[in-house]
Amino acid sequence: MKIVIASDHGGYELKEHIKKYLLSQKIEIEDLGTDSADSVDYPIYGIKAAKEVARGSANFGIIICGTGIGISIAANKVKGIRAALCHCVEYAKLSREHNNANMLALGGRFLDKSEALKIVEAFLHTQFAGARHQKRVDIISQFENNGEC
Ligand code: RB5
Repeated sequence: MKIVIASDHGGYELKEHIKKYLLSQKIEIEDLGTDSADSVDYPIYGIKAAKEVARGSANFGIIICGTGIGISIAANKVKGIRAALCHCVEYAKLSREHNNANMLALGGRFLDKSEALKIVEAFLHTQFAGARHQKRVDIISQFENNGEC
């Protein structure tokens, strides 16, 4: 499994924590920055990571800003991306089961580090349930492709 990970300054500390954890689990990581706690613009990092996931160079993306809001909005502008902002394990599971989310967005200034790792684990290890959920995800793709649904 390969994961792309990116954050702004508000998510930098949590990104480093998650990265270390995933590497300890022998998961391949591509870190797209940022590389310090200096102020940067979250859309740059959200879009950069989303483009990698959309072109299939990673199984999933993890993106982090202060709240997770800005970076998820930015990532969701990239065609094919379903970025889910998750505050708890249940959201992470449901974002995979129901929405086939391909990016996990987290709020670095609001999440406890150990809770964040549980959320990441739940996200990476839950399968899409398909069936009635497939049809709903397909409606989103159809709108992306044709501007109609
Ligand atoms: C940066 O201060 C902050 O606005 C950003 O990390 C994020 O929370 C935006 O949604």
